[in-house]
Amino acid sequence: MSELTKVALITGGSKGIGYGVAESLIKDGIRVAITSRTQASADEAASELNKIKEGYALGIESDVRNLASQEKAVKTIITKWGRLDYVIANAGVGYMAPIQTLTPEQWQETIDINLTGTFNSIKAAYESLKETKGYFITISSLAGTNFFANGGAYNASKFGVVGFSQAIMIDLRKDGIKVSTIMPGSVATEFGGHHVTDKDAWKIQPEDIGQIVSDLIKMPARTLPSKVEVRPSMPA
Ligand SMILES: NC(=O)c1ccc[n+]([C@@H]2O[C@H](COP(=O)([O-])OP(=O)(O)OC[C@H]3O[C@@H](n4cnc5c(N)ncnc54)[C@H](OP(=O)(O)O)[C@@H]3O)[C@@H](O)[C@H]2O)c1
Repeated sequence: MSELTKVALITGGSKGIGYGVAESLIKDGIRVAITSRTQASADEAASELNKIKEGYALGIESDVRNLASQEKAVKTIITKWGRLDYVIANAGVGYMAPIQTLTPEQWQETIDINLTGTFNSIKAAYESLKETKGYFITISSLAGTNFFANGGAYNASKFGVVGFSQAIMIDLRKDGIKVSTIMPGSVATEFGGHHVTDKDAWKIQPEDIGQIVSDLIKMPARTLPSKVEVRPSMPA
């Protein structure tokens, strides 16, 4: 492998959107480290991904709620592959409940993973991305601009991710680091405990978000699509 092979870190790549993005980037010849809260899930996904291109995927246990854990993940990547070009802050959870029954624990976990996890992801990777003039991509949601019943915690976290991503986009442009936020509508994943069946065929598929990430990375250096809204074209 060439020393110039680009390297990506995807938080929460053990399944769903993160896994779909990993597939797409590896097909583009990019090495990908994926994280999960457990080493076993990260390893299982990485071993599947290595079937696309052997040696291109690495599984790392890291909880985005913990900055030290994110910093360790970045260190592991730099030790193994020597560089970090792209970070996709994807890890997220969704507890949908009205404020009457939403628990303080559900609120805290949603904000800690979805919002603080995004903050931790850029804090841990900033120096490495500055070196490569890299790209930081956040996976927010259409829930980051459209509010709905039962969305108190989730809407708050995703509105936060959209605002955070746009603000740091201005900061990081000065360092030659691009920032985009992708705001998907319904994607066919196990998010929120959903079980994917044939009935989810109308939804955006995880690999479609992968294609968007690949396309963003291929944009000319002069151009930055900073906020990408994406929705099913034929809702059920
Ligand atoms: N599905 C949708 O319709 C949809 C729409 C818009 C936006 N999104 C956003 O897309 C992102 C990915 O969701 P998904 O649909 O792919 O859900 P998913 O299939 O449930 O995957 C979630 C991923 O996040 C990881 N994760 C959760 N908590 C983590 C933590 N504390 N530290 C590290 N990793 C963690 C999970 O890994 P482990 O469980 O192995 O730890 C898993 O890999 C989320 O931010 C979600 O809000 C989803």
